[in-house]
Amino acid sequence: MSSAEPPSFSREEPPARWVVLVHGGAGDVSPERRPLHAEGCARAAEAGAAVLRAGGSALDAVEAAVLVLEDDPRFNAGTGACLDEDGEIVLDAAIMDGATLRAGAVAALPPFHHPIAIARAALSDGRHVLYAGAGAADFARAHGFTPSTTEAMRTELALQRWQEVRDKRAESGFAGGTVGAVARDVHGHVAAATSTGGTVDKRRGRVGDSPIVGAGTYADDGGAAISTTGHGEAFLRTVFAGRLSDDAARLRGVGGLGGAASDRLRAMTLRTGGHGGVIAVDGDGRAMVARNTPTMSFAFVRHDGADEWREAGA
Ligand code: GLY
Repeated sequence: MSSAEPPSFSREEPPARWVVLVHGGAGDVSPERRPLHAEGCARAAEAGAAVLRAGGSALDAVEAAVLVLEDDPRFNAGTGACLDEDGEIVLDAAIMDGATLRAGAVAALPPFHHPIAIARAALSDGRHVLYAGAGAADFARAHGFTPSTTEAMRTELALQRWQEVRDKRAESGFAGGTVGAVARDVHGHVAAATSTGGTVDKRRGRVGDSPIVGAGTYADDGGAAISTTGHGEAFLRTVFAGRLSDDAARLRGVGGLGGAASDRLRAMTLRTGGHGGVIAVDGDGRAMVARNTPTMSFAFVRHDGADEWREAGA
């Protein structure tokens, strides 16, 4: 992605009793693939909506939605995740509960099918927030998760993209296809979850923004639940998600979170050269999406059934 000002987009919905919003990554998806990404997001949003419709928690809803996206080989998370410089799948994920500020995360995790479920186990366990590398794999095994392999989870598309980057036919720094979900439940609580393979051909040990609370993932009932996608280093350097949640707290009852997110994306691009997108829902159930990349797939479902607000790209 060039550092020239890209097309930007933001959208905000009025408050909802319950709502779930998912993204399938900011980037530059080809026009033929955009409907596939939009369809994957819609299926994930429906999985989250099923939880909320039954009176379940925002935390369960965002986990359910991200599990669907991790199993979908079209996205850069779980099965279909991108490959690092060794040609290996190495995963990052985080989940956060806005009611209690409890969070769980895994970084530089070797192949497991559902990193978000391992992050959830870390949240439930409660002793530490973030497990990395071999320690994250040990934690996962100790909590009943079965390790997988790069060969079992690698797709032809991931291999092709990796080869293009290795051959210098494509840039490496962009994490297209990261997935995430945010939700507000009928009890007034919000939650956020993000999962990714990171960037194509990333260096061994690189960790992006997704598993870092306050950078790529954040949730606070008093502010908003937030999941980001795009240049991870830019979101890390601008502490993006935590700051946008603070914006949401200031704007509570007023609206304007979509504009605040666009402003933060613009400032991030100006200061760091990075681009991306973000989804959020505040404690009143106001959902919003913003991006300054050419495309970003997303879908949402709210208590009144409205789901027409769906867009796969520019
Ligand atoms: N935004 C995801 C990553 O850079 O890893």
